[in-house]
Amino acid sequence: MTHPYPPEPFRIKVVESIRLISPAERESALKEAGYNLFSMKAEDIFIDLLTDSGTGAMSSEQWAAIMRGDESYAGARSFHRLKAAVEDIFGFKFFVPTHQGRAAENILSACLVKPGMYVPSNMHFDTTDANIRARGGRPTNLVIEEAFNINNPHLFKGNMDIAKLRAFIQKVGAEKIPFGMVTVTNNAGGGQPVSMENLKAVAAVYRENQIPFFIDSARYAENAYFIKLREKGYENKSVIDIAREMYALADGMTMSAKKDAIVNIGGLLCVNDEALFQNVKNELILREGFPTYGGLAGRDLEAMAVGLYEGLDEAYLAYRLSQTAYLAARLNDAGIPTIQPAGGHAVYLDAASVLPHIPQSEFPGQALCVELYREGAIRGVEIGSVMFAYPDPDSGKMIFPKLELLRLAIPRRTYTQSHMDYVADCAARIKSRASSVRGYKFTYAPELLRHFTARFEPLYRTAF
Ligand code: F0G
Repeated sequence: MTHPYPPEPFRIKVVESIRLISPAERESALKEAGYNLFSMKAEDIFIDLLTDSGTGAMSSEQWAAIMRGDESYAGARSFHRLKAAVEDIFGFKFFVPTHQGRAAENILSACLVKPGMYVPSNMHFDTTDANIRARGGRPTNLVIEEAFNINNPHLFKGNMDIAKLRAFIQKVGAEKIPFGMVTVTNNAGGGQPVSMENLKAVAAVYRENQIPFFIDSARYAENAYFIKLREKGYENKSVIDIAREMYALADGMTMSAKKDAIVNIGGLLCVNDEALFQNVKNELILREGFPTYGGLAGRDLEAMAVGLYEGLDEAYLAYRLSQTAYLAARLNDAGIPTIQPAGGHAVYLDAASVLPHIPQSEFPGQALCVELYREGAIRGVEIGSVMFAYPDPDSGKMIFPKLELLRLAIPRRTYTQSHMDYVADCAARIKSRASSVRGYKFTYAPELLRHFTARFEPLYRTAF
């Protein structure tokens, strides 16, 4: 079957070599890493789809901007360039740069979350979830049910379930909700977009209840482009205007700039409330740096100011989303189900259906992750029970996530069609020997964010 793969709207000026180590070397690298691909040497990876975060290729314009970096401690020109871009695109009254997204989440949680409080979202990503928990809060996911059906072709599977949100606020009380969120695109649920209609409805519910509305904006541009492609009335609007319309609905945002702003490091925390901004600045000074650099170098602020616009370039976005859809289609042709429709930044393989003999307690997503490395030195990341199974704070009973996924995240402007073909071919070979793949157990797991540092051992049980 053939699938469209648009020519990349760039040409390559600098290259970085990658090498494929032998199967025996891969096996010993796996063992040494405790079967956790986060613990591997990156040079032992051939195609690295661990994350699209900070792994993109910066443009010649961004590298040129790096040379303009003003490294003044306070009030640097670079800060003011970034400020102009942030105000132009997002329109919030106040902002600080942070070294990455989780620093913004930490500061926001430190300022607003008290023990026993709730923070609803469509789905929180792992660091947001953990930052809220770390302050004694309870992150709550209220995405539409369609998000949990891999095959449902809903065009905005990242949408919040408005009825669930209303019922939730009613149940816990608005005074127990220091702020509400929506993640665009919904990374934990397949990189799926949130429609403008849904963002408007969410904003209205939060406003009615006087709950400040924050958008987790890591993939603001991909979400805006999905709105242009899929939502009636937006087909003739520019992506930047769609982004402006999205952000006019919110009271603030956290952002990892390492995704759609195509920088290797950086983040933002924006707010409209002046009193909150004072507290944010105090927290920032304590933990990150002075408010005009926020833990970054001046050159990083410059690269971000340029990247915020490059991420919104429509020729780039058209290529970007087609590349992701291409990989998904090739995997589907090989009989490997992926979340439908394909998301923006990543393809999510349904590990539970590829490895139906491995129960959730034995981590089918992790098993598929290890297998893809074994087959082709490809690195993906489990988004399933390793990442998200937690004991219920009231009953202590283990709550497993609804989906067991392997995410293959595609770095921006980094890999070509032949790399995607190689990945699909390796996955197809695993599919044909799937019944012999085994589950895993932890030999070490920390309490929070355990996927980063856990160690595993393969299980030798073959009861299937
Ligand atoms: N929010 C979302 C939706 C994210 O995907 C991430 C990071 C963050 C916040 C935190 O940002 O890494 O800059 O501190 N996601 C990366 C990923 C790590 O691989 O999906 P950060």
